[in-house]
This record gives sequence, C-alpha cells and structure tokens, in this order.
Amino acid sequence: MKDVMRAVKVSDHVYWVGAVDWNIRDFHGYTTKRGSTYNAYLVLAEKPTLIDTVKSPFREEMLARVGSVMDPRDISVIVSNHTEMDHTGALPEVIRYIDPDRVYASPTGVKALSEHFSFDREIIAVKDGESIGLGNMDLACWETRMLHWPDSMFSYLAKDKLLFSQDAFGMHLATSARFDDEIEPAILDYEAATYYANILLPYSPQVLKLLDRVGGLGVEFRIVAPDHGPVWRKDIGGIIDSYGRWAAQEPTKKAVVVYATMWHSTESMARALSEGLIDKGITVKLMSMEAVHRSDVAYEVLDAGILAVGSPTLNNNIFPSMADVLTYLKGLRPRNLVGAAFGSYGWSGESVKQLETYLADMKVELPCEGLRIKHVPDSSSLKQCYDLGGLLADRLLERV
Ligand code: FEO
Repeated sequence: MKDVMRAVKVSDHVYWVGAVDWNIRDFHGYTTKRGSTYNAYLVLAEKPTLIDTVKSPFREEMLARVGSVMDPRDISVIVSNHTEMDHTGALPEVIRYIDPDRVYASPTGVKALSEHFSFDREIIAVKDGESIGLGNMDLACWETRMLHWPDSMFSYLAKDKLLFSQDAFGMHLATSARFDDEIEPAILDYEAATYYANILLPYSPQVLKLLDRVGGLGVEFRIVAPDHGPVWRKDIGGIIDSYGRWAAQEPTKKAVVVYATMWHSTESMARALSEGLIDKGITVKLMSMEAVHRSDVAYEVLDAGILAVGSPTLNNNIFPSMADVLTYLKGLRPRNLVGAAFGSYGWSGESVKQLETYLADMKVELPCEGLRIKHVPDSSSLKQCYDLGGLLADRLLERV
C-alpha cells in the first residue's frame, strides 16, 4: 500500500485519507450495489488531526494515504465523530500506532467507544458547541444525537469553511472520483436518497431540527465532507434541500405496490390495483419481492403517498419475503402514507389481517378493509382490486 495510495486534497488544510470498498454489497441489511467508501480526513493544522478512521480491514490503506502527506505518527489529535465500526474499526490499532496526544469524541461517543473497545488511554469528551484547539485553527463540535446514533457529532473547520458531517449527507458509492461535481447528478440523487431512506429516515424529526439549527448558526459551508461517498463542494444547497424534503416526508402522487405471490393470483390482484391507481393519475411502482430487495422498496417509499401490500397465505402466515420487507419498513418509520392490504388464499386466509397489522403499526392510514380473494381472481374480483386502487388514489388526492 505504501507508495501507492495517495491522499486527495479537499481544501487548503484538509486531505481525504479514507478507503474505497468496491465490493461491499450488504450494509447491515441495505444492499449497496455500488459499494462504499469510508472517509477519513487529515487536517494539516499545527496539531495535525485525523477526523474519523475506517473499517478495520482498511487500516493500512488509510495510513498509507496519510503517509503520502506526512508521517502518520506525527498526528497529534484524533477526533471520532461517530462510533459505528465502519468509522472506528481501525481506531484502536491506529491509536496504538500513532500514539496521539489527544483523542476526542462527544460525551456519548466516549461512552459508546468504551462499550466497543478497550483503550489504555483517556478519550476526552467534547461537549456540544465546544471547540478543539488545533494550534493555528479551531475545530467546532456540535452534537447531532440520533443522526443516526446517540454519539454522532459534526465538526466544523472554520478556517476552510468545511463541515465534517459523518454519516449525514453521505451515500454508499465506490468511485475513483472524490467530489460531487465529478459524478453524474442522477447517480448522486439516487444514491443519496437511497442512503437517506435506508439509514436516516427514522430520524427525520431530528434531521429537521438539525437543519434549522445549522441554518441559524450563520455559518458558511464551502465544503461538506461526509464519512461515505463524495465530498460536496458544488451542490451543497442541493443536498441540504433534498434532506429537508425527505425529512418532511410530504407525500407525492406516487404509489408503491409491493407483493409476493405463489401462483400469480396475488400478482394479478396487484396489477389490477395498480391499474386503478394509474387511471387516477398516480405514478405506480409495482414491486415483486422476487425481483427487488427490501432497500429498493425503502427507496421508493421515501416520496410515496400510498403503500399497498399483498401476500398470499402460506401455512397461516404471510410470505417470508413480505415479513422481511415489512419488518424493515416498520423500523424505518415512513410517515404520511395511505395504504391497503390484499392477497389471495386457499382456505384459512390470515395474510391480509397480518399485513394490516404491519401497516397499522407503521401508522399507515387504512381507508378500507383489506381485500381477500379465494384462489384465482375472476374478472369481478379483479374489478374489486381496480376499485381499491381508485379508492386509495382518491384518498391520497385529498391530501396532496
Ligand atoms: Fe457509516 Fe453509522 O456508520
């Protein structure tokens, strides 16, 4: 790695010294089709400072990138903005190797780090609003609790007008490009939205508060440097606006119809229901759990106004793939949805009630009873499905 890996200059005093994980495809249940990066940053202050580290297997890559600029053992300060192990896995070994003068984290970060690792040195707590002196410049620290862990914090280098935002404003995207203006906007939009939907959505109320707080600080941001994906230097306003929109969870004229099927009966119901939605002017995403991943569904639900879910009854239960996606969505807490359940059955037919329980737990408005059809839907049953789509559309159109 040494003599091959390079640091990338981000601003006058900051270098990217992270790692690119081209091959990761599963990030605690979220499918990362384009891989990811673990971004760490080196601040060339009088007290050279490392902001975050990387996942454990990438330690040598990070140290090699630091080594292209300076001897890593001359780093004086390490700041851990977020305890999750994609940013701290390398931290214990890095501390041992560098032996910095000081290591900082938020107060909850200090506790969380002690619950992950065993350090033979003090980790210093930096309180919300305090600054860490780096000699010729300061690093301001702001707690961002539950974005997306209790320990999370932002740090801000006023000298370069640069915000280190840890997971916020990040995305799972492995590229050779390090900046937003080097990547196709459509890819940035898709990956940032997918990241928000799969990681940050449950904390949308905190996102709105944070955006208010940061907006009220009167601080200029020329660069936003997250812990995953590209550094924002061109369209900072765009990603902040997107966060405001996603966090508000305002529904659009869009429906997600997600289903599992055994002998295509529930699929026929899903298609008929979708036609009812389309004929009322609703954009539909029809998603078979045989064809998509749960995190694809989360992405589509992010700006949807309708969530319709279908499953046949299998051994008195819903299909396992529907339990998978609904358990996942329930945890992500999407809001402001209208919905319904549907499914075909042979004799006992419990699936629709079970689907409705999931939807009710997710606070999805259910304007009518779910639709159960025995065995194969005939034309009159399909018309019922079509009408259910129309009813859901009418309810949504009253709201948007
Ligand atoms: Fe990228 Fe919450 O860790």
